[in-house]
Amino acid sequence: MMAHSGIRKMTVADAAIVHSIDKSVTIEPWTERLYVECIGVGYECWVIVEEQEVIGFGVMNYSTSEAHILNIAVTPSKQREGQGERMLQHLLNLARQHGSDEIFLEVRVSNTPAIELYKKYSFVEVGMRKNYYPLEDGGPGREDALTLALSLW
Ligand SMILES: CC(C)(COP(=O)(O)OP(=O)(O)OC[C@H]1O[C@@H](n2cnc3c(N)ncnc32)[C@H](O)[C@@H]1OP(=O)(O)O)[C@@H](O)C(=O)NCCC(=O)NCCS
Repeated sequence: MMAHSGIRKMTVADAAIVHSIDKSVTIEPWTERLYVECIGVGYECWVIVEEQEVIGFGVMNYSTSEAHILNIAVTPSKQREGQGERMLQHLLNLARQHGSDEIFLEVRVSNTPAIELYKKYSFVEVGMRKNYYPLEDGGPGREDALTLALSLW
């Protein structure tokens, strides 16, 4: 039987589990406090919940006519079940309702799952930020980021 899942607003009480999911998918997770601050300043902070357990999250903010996806992640054991896509659709809907013209994000050049997800939704590459992220294997050097964008018109 399919587990019951949905998307709801992130609360301060979710920050610890959100941080631990973030920590499980990247070497450079945001701190718990940063998630609390994002909630406090009114960013779009949402969680994916399955059987009352937080299994993923998404964070987005707005600036002038643009929206920026700051983070989307799904806990490793729940990946490839359509949940990341579900969160992306949710954020795109919110940005459209907000009246944003365009939505932007940065992604590691090596992050094939995320790049494929965004390409599935017709995001296009609009720039490259050199040496933007630390290496995932903790080695010396830095990794480039792609800037992807989608027109919401
Ligand atoms: C990127 C991420 C959020 C995708 O979430 P997910 O729930 O596993 O993805 P979904 O099951 O919704 O997949 C949706 C689409 O993404 C792409 N995709 C997801 N995982 C993929 C993989 N391992 N390889 C290739 N494409 C992949 C596919 O296009 C897929 O569509 P399809 O099922 O029709 O092939 C997830 O891999 C994750 O949490 N990664 C770590 C955090 C991260 O890198 N976030 C992005 C920051 S910019």
